[in-house]
Amino acid sequence: MSIAEKFVSMEYGPAPEDPKEAFAWLDRHGRRFGLFIDGAWQSPSAGEYFDTFDPSTGEKLASIAQGSAADIDAAVRAARAASSKWGALTPHARARYLYALARLVQKHSRLLAVLESMDNGKPIRESRDIDIPLVARHFYYHAGWAQLLEQEFPEHEPCGVVGQVIPWNFPLLMLAWKIAPALATGNTVVLKPAEFTPITALLFAELCQEAGLPGGVVNIVTGDGRTGEALVKHPNVDKIAFTGSTEVGRAIRGATASSHKRLSLELGGKSPFIIFEDADLDSAVEGLVDGIWFNQGQVCCAGSRLLMQESIAEVLISKIRDRMSTLRIGPPLDKAIDIGAIVARVQLDRIQRLVEQGVAEGATCWQPQTALPARGFYYPPTLLSNVHPTSIVAQQEIFGPVLATMTFRTPREAVELANNTVYGLASCVWSENINVALHVAAQLKAGVVWVNCTNLFDAACGFGGYRESGYGREGGREGLLEYMEPRWFKHAPSLPASNAVAPAQLESEEETGAPAIDRTVKLYIGGKQARPDSGYSMEVRSADGRLLGEVPLGNRKDIRNAVEAAHKAESWAKASAHNRAQVLYYCAENLAQRRQEVGQRLAAAVGENQAAMELNLAIQRIFSYAAWADKFDGAVHNPPFRNIAIAMNEPIGTVGVICPSEAPLLGFLSLVLPLLAMGNTVVAVPSEKYPLITGDLYQLFDTSDLPGGAVNIVTGYVSQLLKTLAQHDDIDAIWCYGDDAAVAAAKAMSVGNLKQVWTNEGRALDWFDPKVAEGRWFLEHATQVKNIWVPYGE
Ligand code: NAI
Repeated sequence: MSIAEKFVSMEYGPAPEDPKEAFAWLDRHGRRFGLFIDGAWQSPSAGEYFDTFDPSTGEKLASIAQGSAADIDAAVRAARAASSKWGALTPHARARYLYALARLVQKHSRLLAVLESMDNGKPIRESRDIDIPLVARHFYYHAGWAQLLEQEFPEHEPCGVVGQVIPWNFPLLMLAWKIAPALATGNTVVLKPAEFTPITALLFAELCQEAGLPGGVVNIVTGDGRTGEALVKHPNVDKIAFTGSTEVGRAIRGATASSHKRLSLELGGKSPFIIFEDADLDSAVEGLVDGIWFNQGQVCCAGSRLLMQESIAEVLISKIRDRMSTLRIGPPLDKAIDIGAIVARVQLDRIQRLVEQGVAEGATCWQPQTALPARGFYYPPTLLSNVHPTSIVAQQEIFGPVLATMTFRTPREAVELANNTVYGLASCVWSENINVALHVAAQLKAGVVWVNCTNLFDAACGFGGYRESGYGREGGREGLLEYMEPRWFKHAPSLPASNAVAPAQLESEEETGAPAIDRTVKLYIGGKQARPDSGYSMEVRSADGRLLGEVPLGNRKDIRNAVEAAHKAESWAKASAHNRAQVLYYCAENLAQRRQEVGQRLAAAVGENQAAMELNLAIQRIFSYAAWADKFDGAVHNPPFRNIAIAMNEPIGTVGVICPSEAPLLGFLSLVLPLLAMGNTVVAVPSEKYPLITGDLYQLFDTSDLPGGAVNIVTGYVSQLLKTLAQHDDIDAIWCYGDDAAVAAAKAMSVGNLKQVWTNEGRALDWFDPKVAEGRWFLEHATQVKNIWVPYGE
């Protein structure tokens, strides 16, 4: 074809990348790789290997060690042995190692990019221009945090040994997202790459050697899900960080529930891509190409649900089809290729199966007439229209180049459709009207919102999900916090096992000869006192056995009513920070006025000294959170593109709180206030030791202009109420402060809907020490960061 002919057809010739260097590197290793443990290569203890393939040809690339539980154990030991020395290095020394790794990634960037494309099937254009530069950026950025750590995070300590399990869609980038913040904060690491794509992690191990990283700081143990499971279950690992399927995320939540391992999960998504009628449609279509066809759609934040305003649906679909017809599918090492190979046969089968199911459910399937290469795993770009919002292809992550489309009429309908998913990872909004775009962005339940852009990532901008897309953030300041704990929290002693009495064991009044009941309180739901559904009460006794009063025995129905009331209290989340502060100050004022009577009653349960201390500090604590209400701001990031990213600290939503028993008043307020200050609504179960405090609390809230439903209080047995709270789909997080058993139960019961669970890890915190019991640590957990990316310029 002549140049002139090519110009007319805009047809490109092939531009293959030469894989010679990559093959030479594989050959230097004899096409066989061991495990990287304690800074050296080791053979797998069971002598087992598996093969990794090039999905675009089906050819074997290398044999990879299958790490066993014994290998994981060796790696964890090495990481533990290296931990104290690494953690004790000066921040500057750690910064230099991270800087060296960043430099080495840059120096070897082409080799890394080619190997990545060969192992994963992604177009070289993407691995060369997106994946690997972002990897380098991640190490540079975290070298900076390592340097600043002590100034910016005083009194924080690393978690210790971190186990990290990563997926195959961005193999080296996910490694960087995991390893860079872990090392910057002084942790040591055992990382298990995905079985389909282990190669670049092994080259990275070599770079660690080249950087002179001390042995044991980074250990890479390859293998399949069994290896991952052994790492997750290893008793000497302090934190697990996982990216992958929601199903495995659930299994990991279950497997770590009865341990004190910290956990961050980055799971699947079904992200909406919303296009309004006033959008620049051609730009939106280009954005969509990136949104769903980038990396063959094997992207957790892929814009896989297109929501179009009805008035533009027809013209938009036609533009999308035209653009789809120009997408080039072919060998990943061809630089002119848009869509490469699917990672493996099982993934290809899965995509095919889901599309067939979608069509069976009524969707119309359209694919361009593009010839697929004869060998390898390929799937054409696919458009599914007439998709019903409940169809499997609208609800389940397909993880392939498949776009499901739906229409909406109003911004409100767009938000409803967008949020009609169990996930909440990312979203896109296209509109030339910035007011509409930002108004919609604020209402989307997703960790990232890209306005008039898509799939932009930067180390400075935290990434992570709402709801079943997981919890925790990677990148940014918030990402660092996943790998550290305040010193006072980490070293707090364990609480003794709770001596809460089960209903049947309660002594009867006749047996103790107790005095007459002097106080009966009710539940507090939707701003009103409510009788319990059960019609039963439970007795409250002092330490010496005197009957102090009775509280209602709340049950499932009461919790459900409370959750409903909390959801209706939208005005609290929408109130301005200034208004929330005013209400909290008013609470302090009212408590100060009633301190004598509240103190007298509290003294009967906890003694006069403690009651006086609790009250004094309670008033101060309310003041603190009134002060924080309008000061715990987000940030504006300046990523290296023509964008700003607005990082908003959003409330989590409705939070179920199991209050600590040690300090009935102060403990309640120490947990409920940071949540309220940040605009959450709360369903709280007060201390079993002295739930009578409920009566004083609702009088306080009632007289302080707190909207009904912002705080709801259900008294009863924690063991009975926790389950309903944890399993309730409309509760967004659980804060459980109790003994080991209560904390493990909270985690285990939240497996089903992957609810965020934050606990004291069974530790006894000093509620009387403001340095421990109030401030940023609580506020950080009372919020989640949403990054809204907005481009600027012509
Ligand atoms: P997966 O979740 O099974 O694999 C991710 C990682 O977890 C791999 O390293 C794997 O070896 C490991 N793993 C598997 N079972 C484990 C266990 N019980 N304990 C600890 N680690 C374990 O994902 P898979 O099977 O590769 O893909 C299946 C589906 O998951 C995809 O079709 C896609 O829908 C979704 N997925 C989502 C990803 C995301 O980033 N959100 C990434 C990869 C897959």
